[in-house]
Amino acid sequence: MSNRVAVYRKEHFNAAHRLNNPAWDETTNQKVFGKCNNPHFHGHNYELVIKVTGEPDAATGYVMDMKLLSDIVQENVIERFDHKNLNDDTVEFKNLNPTAENIAIVIYKILREKIEPKLDLQVRLYETERNFVDYPAI
Ligand code: NI
Repeated sequence: MSNRVAVYRKEHFNAAHRLNNPAWDETTNQKVFGKCNNPHFHGHNYELVIKVTGEPDAATGYVMDMKLLSDIVQENVIERFDHKNLNDDTVEFKNLNPTAENIAIVIYKILREKIEPKLDLQVRLYETERNFVDYPAI
């Protein structure tokens, strides 16, 4: 039996966004995205849960040093998105609708490059207490 363990780190950021598809007219955007289409933007308190899975290292007993994981998330995700307007202030969402789904995929891609390839990674993003997404979906 394998000794694989999942470890989790929770982080938090605030950001504003607007959901809009520029290929559609105003009425369609309003119908599909509702309040999230508000042209004046609105904010969310995003809760981010990073899951790293692997076997504990023989020397340290850690799957991953949580301080290191926290630093990686802070430097590469929180500093990039916290207190930002995702549509206007970030290159990632210039041409990508900043839904929870797309934000989770973007965060995964950023972190995947920073975490050892032998470790599995999953990103969970809460847009509200009741609405959250997982990427990859497994
Ligand atoms: Ni929203």
